[in-house]
Amino acid sequence: MTTVAVGYLHDDPVAEFYDRHPYPPPVAHFDAQTAGEHDSYAERVEHHRVWPERAPDSVTTVLIAGCGTSQAVHHAVRRPSARVVAVDVSAAAVWHTRELATRHGVTNLVAHRLPVERVHELGQRFDHVVCTGVLHHLADPALGLSRLSEVLAPGGALTLMVYARYGRTGVSLLQEYCRRLGITSSEDELADLVATLREIPLGHPLSRLLRESRDFYNDDALADALLNPRERAYSVPETFDLLAHAGLRFGRWVHQAPYLPGCGSVGETPHAARIAALPLADQFAAVELFRGTITRHAMVAYAATDPLSGHLDFSDPDLRRWRPIRVPSATVVEERTPPGAAAALLNRAHTCTDLVMFVTVSELEMFRRIDGERSISDLGAEAMPFVERLFRHDLVVIDASGEVRP
Ligand SMILES: C[S@@+](CC[C@H](N)C(=O)[O-])C[C@H]1O[C@@H](n2cnc3c(N)ncnc32)[C@H](O)[C@@H]1O
Repeated sequence: MTTVAVGYLHDDPVAEFYDRHPYPPPVAHFDAQTAGEHDSYAERVEHHRVWPERAPDSVTTVLIAGCGTSQAVHHAVRRPSARVVAVDVSAAAVWHTRELATRHGVTNLVAHRLPVERVHELGQRFDHVVCTGVLHHLADPALGLSRLSEVLAPGGALTLMVYARYGRTGVSLLQEYCRRLGITSSEDELADLVATLREIPLGHPLSRLLRESRDFYNDDALADALLNPRERAYSVPETFDLLAHAGLRFGRWVHQAPYLPGCGSVGETPHAARIAALPLADQFAAVELFRGTITRHAMVAYAATDPLSGHLDFSDPDLRRWRPIRVPSATVVEERTPPGAAAALLNRAHTCTDLVMFVTVSELEMFRRIDGERSISDLGAEAMPFVERLFRHDLVVIDASGEVRP
């Protein structure tokens, strides 16, 4: 592995913080779940979520911006034919990335200590830029995202995740609490903080997150969540402004059902049709406010000058040739279904429990015939609107590449 000789950006308190509390908590080896990600089916799903129209092996260059300790190694393992570049401002993050890569014999990855704000110094362009959990820690997130947008190859895509404002209200309260008390991230202070969090009253906006999130189980993760020296969070409209400022076009949410008025409990309200009549970005903004629990916005974006990448038009006459692929976390539940429903379909990766799609006997049979190889036309005349519903509920992605598969 090579090292890019770069001067240090500046005395960044965030870099210093992540040197002391690397995130995610470093692992010596991949666990069974991660090893399972080296699976061509799961990889095909991940790929077509970003590019329905593009064949997987056409993606040859990947940038993991703000790689943390392990993310870049996961990507290098999952795309063995791609060249992966990882950058992070923290020396500890780069060190852990290199160690993990070496331990797993990964050879298609280079890791550099370099801030996102200076990725142009790599002198490279990338098909896929991944930047999750990073932009909201930058002094100037808009500048950072613009820099990432500039290194996108033609037809390239960005996968981004920023913290969401409203669902993290409980975290903001505790961050402010820690600031007021001057709590530091020393071992003793973290132990006291853990003990304090155990007593958080039921009904506190943080209590649901304490139950559900792995971010409070480990000292480094706890420090990351509550003691980060610089962090902000975004509403849906602020996220869209951030993209537009960087010359990017919103493509899709990684999980889109939580933002759609036709999915889950919001679809049962008297306002569902009224929300659905709004422009798309306003629909997402309204549903975020209705839910109140979205803690992170994970999305796919493309250059604003590229109108085609990621585009799926369900009125396209060519759609019969599209191949739906079931996502690995899609689950069929046949017990305790309401009258008229043969099963409930749900995506185990959703955190909102209302995102259930009820199906009839014939729809369930059709769902089971979806194998990633059959086209919509192979599935039968009824398949078209059904596949669109499955897509909107994050139960399938679409392979519209027309790629001839072995
Ligand atoms: C919460 S961790 C996320 C790590 C990784 N992206 C993931 O999702 O597992 C944030 C990472 O961003 C890095 N980071 C923060 N500011 C950065 C900057 N300006 N340039 C590059 N990396 C930065 C931190 O050092 C840290 O490793």
